[in-house]
Amino acid sequence: MHHWVAVLVISSLALVTESSANAQSIRYDEARHIWLLTTKQNSYAIGVDSNGALRNLYWGAPLWRMDDLPPVLPRRELSSFDPPQMMENEEFPGWGGTRYFEPAIKMTRADGDRDLVLKYASQKILGDKLDIDLKDIHDEVDVTLHYTVYPDYGIISRSATVRNSTAAPFTLDSAQSATWYLPPGDGYQLTYLSGRWAAETQINREPIHEGDKVLESRKGHTSHNFNPWFAIDHGDAAEESGSVWFGALAWSGNWRITVEQTPYRQVRVTGGFNTFDFQYPLNPGESVDTPEFYAGYAANGRGAASRLLHRFEREQILPGGLTSRTRPVLYNSWEATTFNVNEPGQIQLADKAAKLGVELFVMDDGWFGKRNNDRAGLGDWVVNPAKFPQGLTGLIKHVNDLGMDFGLWVEPEMVNPDSDLYRRHPDWVMNFAGRPRSELRNQLVLNLARDDVKEYIFQSLDKLASENNIKYFKWDMNRPFAEPGWPEAGPANERKLWITYVRNLYEIIDRLRRKHPKLEIESCSGGGGRVDLGILRRVDEVWTSDNTEAFDRLRIQEGFSQAYAPKIMSAWVTDVPNQNGRSTPLQYRFLVAMQGALGIGANLNHWTDHDAALGTKMIALYKSIRNTVQLGDLYRLLSPITNDVTANQYVSSDGKQAVLFAFRHSQEFNTPAPAILLHGLDEKAVYRLESVDGKLIDRQGPLSGAYLMHNGVHLNLRGDFDSTAVVFERVP
Ligand code: DGJ
Repeated sequence: MHHWVAVLVISSLALVTESSANAQSIRYDEARHIWLLTTKQNSYAIGVDSNGALRNLYWGAPLWRMDDLPPVLPRRELSSFDPPQMMENEEFPGWGGTRYFEPAIKMTRADGDRDLVLKYASQKILGDKLDIDLKDIHDEVDVTLHYTVYPDYGIISRSATVRNSTAAPFTLDSAQSATWYLPPGDGYQLTYLSGRWAAETQINREPIHEGDKVLESRKGHTSHNFNPWFAIDHGDAAEESGSVWFGALAWSGNWRITVEQTPYRQVRVTGGFNTFDFQYPLNPGESVDTPEFYAGYAANGRGAASRLLHRFEREQILPGGLTSRTRPVLYNSWEATTFNVNEPGQIQLADKAAKLGVELFVMDDGWFGKRNNDRAGLGDWVVNPAKFPQGLTGLIKHVNDLGMDFGLWVEPEMVNPDSDLYRRHPDWVMNFAGRPRSELRNQLVLNLARDDVKEYIFQSLDKLASENNIKYFKWDMNRPFAEPGWPEAGPANERKLWITYVRNLYEIIDRLRRKHPKLEIESCSGGGGRVDLGILRRVDEVWTSDNTEAFDRLRIQEGFSQAYAPKIMSAWVTDVPNQNGRSTPLQYRFLVAMQGALGIGANLNHWTDHDAALGTKMIALYKSIRNTVQLGDLYRLLSPITNDVTANQYVSSDGKQAVLFAFRHSQEFNTPAPAILLHGLDEKAVYRLESVDGKLIDRQGPLSGAYLMHNGVHLNLRGDFDSTAVVFERVP
């Protein structure tokens, strides 16, 4: 009898211990030196082997039992050409010893010694954060690996601090944020985003073979050419099925992600500062932090992976997180007026925008200095008195009286040679002494790594924001770096420019936001040239692309949504014909733009009464669904890449509303549109349906979640560039 009681007590104790241990996001088995990091959606395990090397043990679906993890034993060499280190999945390998893959860190000491072999030194756990210290086997080169677990979000972040605790200077040749390891195997498939100006975030999918695939920017900003995001699957993942490992690097300068398959069925992803033209000296006592590299695993396809990232960005990355407001409907003057801005013209547009229901009126380029075209004025952040005789005050008051906030375009990092700023400070641009200074769009890049430049930019923007009721800056950046010299820093230090520039950019924005807590910022770099989780920590939305042609936008937006939340994705309705000479109906353009943060970029002076009536209706509809679009879950139902019909669905976080957007490219042979099966609804609930334009063929009466998800809806989409939307309200 007593025995039974004892057994019961012990087993219930064990249960308590197991379940409370499971609730911890970071568990440490001290005896075996193993850590298990767990979120609701995934786990990540690392351990120290008997040689002191820190090794990756696992990344995938959630694990609950630490005892399952094997002892971390050193590997034996396969041959003298295949050393053990190559197979050991070292968590943060230095370039040293017998390591030939992409290292996480590489250095040169003052005496020329370049060998770096890192061993485990100590660890510290604080809530959801884990720090692991590594040290070189020979001297005091210290590396701290930082891990943050986001237990509700399915995301783990990694970064590193490299510290020179030796007595002599050394130089870093490579400093990465993390190396991630996929489970050993073949047949992996890489998904990544590439593009160029006006053709950003195009989706690529390709098999991973032995060798390296490099995604990178060498341009100084994040760049249109690759976006610092990846997703990897077994080659079998689809939108809503299959395992997907993914990651996003938070850096807005030169970055690199190397996806590498070694000859040992080992797929490694290493990312951080681009090693190209990289050289970062550290004096004794100095340290450098590498950017955050966020990553996760989703069991249910690329859609699920995107939804994890979207929620994480909305609630953990964007300024204000959960407390930030949904994005207002904005008007932007650029496509309507280009540089020809003046007070009466802007007032005329503002009057019309307000009538449509616009909430934020943004004046774009052309309002300052001698900025009548792109050849002059950049750098001179003073209001042009001929265009705005009373400064900005009159226009802003008018806009505010109409019930709208006011936003202003700036391009603080740039200077036209034809500007007062450049005439005063020709040494403020990045340059190699005596060499040509390559212009693009007639402009040069200020060297933000310089303290005086940083201060000038802060002061200029602070003055504008202090003297005017400016709610929003559209922060543009219209060219990549060239001749990235910093003569004043001297040859040993001048390559720090790549890093210091970005850190100073971040610092200016952080300081501005601290001083003007209501100020919002849009990141623009000739469209989507600066979109990454580093800038997104400090801006509220991004300009997705200068390509506002609605059909092209469907593809750009689909790519964008792989990595970034719809709330971030600024999308305007503009005039036609647009890029490609294409004309699409106004409703089509609206519905495309309503899938993100809606804006209007058209010349409203050219709109007919009919256009204005449709615009007013669409903006009102958008306001009734924007919580769902901006804060809900996105399901990409039919892709414009593979289908004649594109369909995207958004479900509100409380499950009460869903919205379906559908677009037809070009009907052939009178073929009807396919049934569209909804996702993310409650099978047992019933939903009222409301179609924007009567193109829903099914019964309008309430329909069950089961019917909508398994039978789908049928839409009467005909001809070229037809479109519709259906709103679903859950019947209480
Ligand atoms: C590039 C941006 O992407 C456009 O929206 C516009 O702001 C222009 N620059 C202005 O020069």
